[in-house]
Formats: sequence, C-alpha cells, structure tokens
Amino acid sequence: MLVVDTNIQECNLFKKGKVRDIYDLGNSLLIIATDRISAFDVVLPTPVPDKGKILTRLSRFWFEYVRDIISNHIISCKVESLPQALHKYKEIFEDRFMLVKKTEVVPFECVVRGYLAGSGWKEYQERQSICGVKIMPGLKVSSKLPEPIFTPATKAEQGHDENVTFEYMQNKIGKELAERIKRVSLSVYTKASRYAEKKGFIIADTKFEFGISNGSLLLIDELLTSDSSRFWLKAGYQEGVPQPAFDKQFVRDYLETLDWDKTYPGPELPEEIVERTREKYLKISEIILGE
Ligand SMILES: Nc1ncnc2c1ncn2[C@@H]1O[C@H](COP(=O)(O)OP(=O)(O)O)[C@@H](O)[C@H]1O
Ligand SMILES: [Mg+2]
Repeated sequence: MLVVDTNIQECNLFKKGKVRDIYDLGNSLLIIATDRISAFDVVLPTPVPDKGKILTRLSRFWFEYVRDIISNHIISCKVESLPQALHKYKEIFEDRFMLVKKTEVVPFECVVRGYLAGSGWKEYQERQSICGVKIMPGLKVSSKLPEPIFTPATKAEQGHDENVTFEYMQNKIGKELAERIKRVSLSVYTKASRYAEKKGFIIADTKFEFGISNGSLLLIDELLTSDSSRFWLKAGYQEGVPQPAFDKQFVRDYLETLDWDKTYPGPELPEEIVERTREKYLKISEIILGE
C-alpha cells in the first residue's frame, strides 16, 4: 500500500517531517515512515513506493546491530502494542511504523565521514579541513580519510543544516555529552562499516541523531538508511571521481540535470527515475539484511 500522507484522527500530530509523520502518544511517539522523498530539503511531489517500509526495515536492523554500543528509542514495531483504537490502521502502519520513546532531541546532526564527498569534499578543497578537523593534503574526491571523522551540523528547523566545529557543539550541549556522542558515533560508524564492507559496499558517510530520555542517551530517528547515508558499491570504487550514486544521491543527480532552483515546489520525478530509485533502496536493504 502506497502511503504518502497520513491523517490519524485518534492521535495528536507531533510533527510532520519531510518523510515521516509523527504522532504524540504521551510518553511515546508513533513514527510513520511514508513513501515521500525529499531532496535539497524539499519534499518532491512524486512518492517512491515502499520507500518507507524499506527505510524502516533498515533502521530496525541497524538499531539492533549496534545495541551493544548504544541503546535506541524503539519500544515496539508490532501493531498489537499500539492502543486498541489504532489497530484498524494496521494496513497503513504495518512494516513502516515504530513506537518510540519520546526524547529530548540533541539539536545536532551527528555526521561521521569515512570518505570525502558532498559538503565535506567542498570544505576540504576550500580549507583543507572539515568542521575544523585538519586533514592531510593531497586527497581527492571520494578518497578514504586516514580515519573516520566526526563532523557535526546544526539541525535547522527551516533551511539547510550548517556544518559546525566540535568546539561549537561542546559549548552548546556541554563537553561531556558532546564527547560521549562523538565517541558513540564513531564506534557505530566503525562497526556498521565493517559489516557493510563484508557485504560489498562502503558507507562513505552517515548521519545520526541522539535524544535523551530519563537521563539516558539514546540513538533516535532513523539509522544508516539510504536517506541518512551515502552508500557506494565496493566493486568499482575509485578515488578521484565521484562514485555512482547508490542512495538518494541518485535522485539529487537527476535533479541537477533540471533547471530547478531547489526551492518549493519540487518537480515531479519521471516514472523511470522513481523505479530506479526504488530498486536502489531495495537492493541496499536486501544486501544489508542478506535477503
Ligand atoms: N525518539 C524521538 N524523540 C523525539 N523526536 C524524534 C525521535 N525520533 C525522531 N525524532 C524527530 O522526528 C523527526 C523525523 O522526521 P523526518 O521526516 O526525518 O523529519 P525532518 O524533516 O526533520 O528530517 C526529526 O525531526 C527527528 O529529530
Ligand atoms: Mg530526517
């Protein structure tokens, strides 16, 4: 079932994100991953069928896989654990929702980069550093970094996120919490990357979000999905050239060929782009989940 927009009368809306509809259930949140797709922070008018289900499946797998490093926000993904009044929405919810702990969100996008791409590559060329982290000279686009780096960005309510230094993050949320988040982010990235490499692909970079619930730090939002990460196939990987997109970058690349100013409203996606995007999302999840 294609789910583009939800309207659950029984619950209060907490937030409509670009991709997810979030309802407030008191101490918990009901997060529904729809089939909407956004690019350059604009929701496109064309959905990608099953995308929400694929992303949810991936997140659930990774949350479990890194549980030894950090706990996460999931309470349950079974429709039966929702209030009785919501069971009638089973068809909409199934495989695309998570009942999660409502947390106080740490207002930073916690980005880890293992390779040079995107805004990291841009910053490196300009300043030979990313988010204030000095990096050795002579690297090319798509080069592997000597070691993974933590490069936080602000979570902008409107507009684009902005890269900041770790010192800035420390000053905003406290040194201890910032240090812990950095350590956890690097560990999660390293563990997930090793797994991905064995399956034949590279996690070039990824974004984590953290929240605090009853004094505990939790991994929240989505985890290591094609929306929050740059995935590259290991076969054919080559530094010095941009890598073939195996994630949302594919849609961004298509949009770059259009004469669109990247503001609302976004253009419709042709059927072929939708289908190929869906295939890419599906392929990554099949590889990771070993299906
Ligand atoms: N456990 C949680 N507690 C509170 N907020 C959360 C939790 N998990 C995710 N969120 C928030 O829900 C939103 C997810 O929806 P999404 O469609 O990704 O929105 P956005 O357009 O902000 O990326 C994000 O703003 C994220 O910070
Ligand atoms: Mg998001």
